[in-house]
Amino acid sequence: MTQQILPGGVLAAGFLPARASSVAGGVDGVFGALFWISVFFLVLIVGLTILFVVRYRVRAGRTEPDVTASHDTRLELLWSVVPLAILMGLFAASTRTWLHMVRGDGGSGAPLEVHVTARKWSWWFDHPGGRGAGELHLVAGRPTELVLASVDVIHSLYVPEFRLKQDAVPGRFTRMTFTPTLPGTYAVLCAEYCGTDHSRMSAKVVVHPDQRSFDAWVREGQAAVASLAAQGKQVFAQRGCAGCHSLDGTRRVGPSMKGLWKRKEKLADGSEVLVDHEYLRESLVKPAAKIVAGFPNVMPPVVLDERDLAALAAYLETLSESP
Ligand code: CUA
Repeated sequence: MTQQILPGGVLAAGFLPARASSVAGGVDGVFGALFWISVFFLVLIVGLTILFVVRYRVRAGRTEPDVTASHDTRLELLWSVVPLAILMGLFAASTRTWLHMVRGDGGSGAPLEVHVTARKWSWWFDHPGGRGAGELHLVAGRPTELVLASVDVIHSLYVPEFRLKQDAVPGRFTRMTFTPTLPGTYAVLCAEYCGTDHSRMSAKVVVHPDQRSFDAWVREGQAAVASLAAQGKQVFAQRGCAGCHSLDGTRRVGPSMKGLWKRKEKLADGSEVLVDHEYLRESLVKPAAKIVAGFPNVMPPVVLDERDLAALAAYLETLSESP
């Protein structure tokens, strides 16, 4: 995960917060380029304006304007082609950075997946290994994927040092992929106005220098907080899911949950669907939307709190891990 810093990025060093993620260099590069191009044209335009105002002001004995040329093809081509080239350059640079953001940086190793639950007015982070906390913990150099959900209105997770911002939207999951590069503690802010205490909706993100330090933090909290998967197991039991869905592969009214997570499931209409967070949500809220081939359409809708939904997903995931 090398930091990509485009030429304009030099500006950023003195003015902007530390660059602490794999995409920060690209963002600063685009920002710096925009900034310096704007400075150049500001000076050019204001400078020429002042020059012309002084030079061609009305003076005694000079009332008629000079005759001016009707047009100049070379000049017109120049001021069309140069801005076009500048804009296309900016377009290419920002698209490259954006692709880097949405595709991830292809870093090695399985990504550290953290589930983020936003609500008025706090953040909750469920980390792998079972520790949930009001602060986000990550590992420097380890690819990271945040899966965001909101229980009420739209919030937006923003970490200035990462140069990243992602909305948490009620009724769906959103994702943010990046690699933190610089160990340290930074602020998590909410960047979408969400009501009275929006400005206080902040948290801390701690980037651990290595996996060992992160693991120690996870263990330290395990006694205090039930793991997400354990909570999911409870939800599964309390909501009566086991009435129709077995855990051991036995066929009942509905498909078994064993080995279901991330499987390609055949549907009644002949198409296939990947069993992931989105499919789980849809199957709970609108069970009739995608019926698995060979099963009756009899499931009632189940409405879950966002955190319970994330917990259930974590639980189903554990059912696919066991041999
Ligand atoms: Cu949450 Cu603003």
